[in-house]
Amino acid sequence: MTTAPDRRDRVVLLNPGPVNVHDRVRAAIASPDECHREPEAQQLLVTVADKIVEVCGGDDSHTAVLLTGSGTAALEMVVSSVVPADGRFLVLDNGHYGERLLRIARVHGIDVDHLEFGWANPITPEAVDRFLGENPGVTHVGMVHHETSTGMLNPLRELGDVVARHGRSLIVDAISSLGAEELDVVADHVDWCVGTANKCLEGLPGISFVCAPRERFAALEPLPARTFYFDLFAGYRAQVLDRSPQFTPALQVLRALDTALDLTLEEGVAARGRRYADRAREIREGLEQRGIELLLPPHQRAASITNAHLAGGLTYDELHDGLKERGYVIYATQAKSAGVFRVANMGQLTAADIAGFLAAFDDVLSKHETVKKEW
Ligand SMILES: Cc1ncc(COP(=O)(O)O)c(C=O)c1O
Repeated sequence: MTTAPDRRDRVVLLNPGPVNVHDRVRAAIASPDECHREPEAQQLLVTVADKIVEVCGGDDSHTAVLLTGSGTAALEMVVSSVVPADGRFLVLDNGHYGERLLRIARVHGIDVDHLEFGWANPITPEAVDRFLGENPGVTHVGMVHHETSTGMLNPLRELGDVVARHGRSLIVDAISSLGAEELDVVADHVDWCVGTANKCLEGLPGISFVCAPRERFAALEPLPARTFYFDLFAGYRAQVLDRSPQFTPALQVLRALDTALDLTLEEGVAARGRRYADRAREIREGLEQRGIELLLPPHQRAASITNAHLAGGLTYDELHDGLKERGYVIYATQAKSAGVFRVANMGQLTAADIAGFLAAFDDVLSKHETVKKEW
């Protein structure tokens, strides 16, 4: 006889997406069966794109192309579509996702420059300014707004100013910042803004997107496509010009994103940022009170994740598994920050969730201490 798994009603997700979503978002995924070639589905694409533009701070000159795929799909779509064969792409890299931009560009044979700052080190606008001054051949610059691997918020406004001053085009991975951190594609001079549904926008996984001025999309027409599915101009022509999806979109996930965007706009990005900052403060103060050291100084931290050093001889797996048994899911870091664990606070989390996490943390630690003593 098999026993049913112990399924709790709600697991508290402290990983950086997918997140605990609002009940209205969960309800939206149970929308009626539908055909993507019907007008109501086509209207959904337009509505969702308009709301994304609003969250990004865009104006009437902007639009968004939606993609069924995770955030990396939209990153690959932009990088492979917008840097021409005779262009050069400068990647600003201070963590795992900066490195990913570089890897995407290399896969597509793009001529790339790598400005590496090192994990958990800030990107300095002066260094970027100098590099662009010395390298007039660079046509595009790529950066990550919130480098989720370390929890560092990179200085988008300053970097956007530098890139615009040099007349280059800026591609921003805003996958883990959009919806909670200050971002304005106009004021920050972002030419290509990439985001995803299931992080700070608090939707479900499966949809990502690219927001940019219409004229930028239109200017891609003469560039030969490097891929078939991820050809950004083809996506723009189908979705925006012809108002029909190019391929079959994940419609129910799009319905959920539509609701999640309504909730984002009702709450407001600044207010969501403050809500996240409150949760982050509770996590950070709680961990520090327990003698846990945090990775970054306060001024470099994003509002939605905390990287902390493991302590007390506890391994990451012991901490993760103990917390998961108690209903809390934390996250590991990539290999380059061994000995660090991550606690994210994106999504519909309450102060009680964080208090529960800290109590579970104490419980795991005290059981570990007892086992150590008994040894
Ligand atoms: C900054 C950043 N870029 C890209 C990605 C990749 O997103 P996905 O896993 O949705 O492809 C992530 C995922 O955490 C991220 O945080």
